Amino acid sequence: EKGGYKHFMAKEIAEQPVVLADALRHYVPGERLNLPETLDFSSLDRLTLVACGTAFYACQIAKYWFETLAALPCEVDIASEFRYREPPLPQRSFAIFVSQSGETADTLAALRYCRGRVARVISVVNVETSTMARESDLALPIMAGPEVGVASTKAFTCQLAVLFLMALKAGLDRGTIDQDRLRQLLDSLNRLPGLMNQAIGSESEIARIAESVAEAQDVLFLGRGAMFPLAMEGALKLKEISYIHAEGYASGELKHGPIALIDKTVPVIVLAPRDRLFDKTVSNMQEVMARHGKVVLITDREGENAAADGTWRSLVMPEVAPELAPILYAVPAQLLAYHAAVAKGTDVDQPRNLAKSVTVE
Ligand code: M6R
Repeated sequence: EKGGYKHFMAKEIAEQPVVLADALRHYVPGERLNLPETLDFSSLDRLTLVACGTAFYACQIAKYWFETLAALPCEVDIASEFRYREPPLPQRSFAIFVSQSGETADTLAALRYCRGRVARVISVVNVETSTMARESDLALPIMAGPEVGVASTKAFTCQLAVLFLMALKAGLDRGTIDQDRLRQLLDSLNRLPGLMNQAIGSESEIARIAESVAEAQDVLFLGRGAMFPLAMEGALKLKEISYIHAEGYASGELKHGPIALIDKTVPVIVLAPRDRLFDKTVSNMQEVMARHGKVVLITDREGENAAADGTWRSLVMPEVAPELAPILYAVPAQLLAYHAAVAKGTDVDQPRNLAKSVTVE
């Protein structure tokens, strides 16, 4: 059932181009956005996104999309905090719950709290028969197929794709995106499965980097913009399956504390697609190198030409529309964690102390 792979996680990483293409066929038949008309964002004051773990990082990335593409203010929270904070919610808002399983106890409790308090309760789930799907006004399936590995991989990238499409719909509804821009972004999205395949093609190179990273005690991941939550997701992936301590930071926060950790033993993974913040990320990276941190720069070919001098390792990703970089760059982050865990000989699919679905708080 692992289809020739050593672990479910490896299989699920490799499946991403195919399941993403399936989801796109469903949600974008032809050039049209196939989302329910009732999902109308036009008169909303706010969006609230709630989830746990990897799904929470997907929400944090989506915040950048909803804000920049649809000018829609977003609040994002971890379900275990949200549910007990009992926040006031504007009636003219949607609450979106993102969960692979659709059964996570805290996310479900947060969903129940929102019922009757917001205009619409929406879930974004992988399991269409799940409790969350049943209890929401609208459930959007991410169509990733069964995910067995405890570390979430293909569910994450499919969650991102569905959230991105929702942000496009929001942009159309609110008049911040016109048909040309829509077509452009959908074109980029349709090219993404192919780009992911190319990223997976770098697996042996990533495995070599991972073998060196596996020797570290601590690892930092850095990014700006939507790559900041991806940095936290990369760190979560690494810690949960390889048991290496890792943190994700916004590059701009480095000098507010974490740079004190840097010495020649600390690998620093810099997620730097060539977007409008590239130069700023590179200058943070150079501050790390000045303190002898071992920088792994992940960027595209031009980014490598411009900035790889003096780095410990660099890894070239295909060029991608900046909006979609978090989905593409998830692949090397996942493969890095996977191969570090393999190098350490840990139980990749069933890491210690963890369950696939957290149905008790
Ligand atoms: O089923 P859910 O998406 O609600 O699960 C949320 C988290 O428990 C989950 O993403 C967890 O963080 C993963 N083990 C991360 O790889």
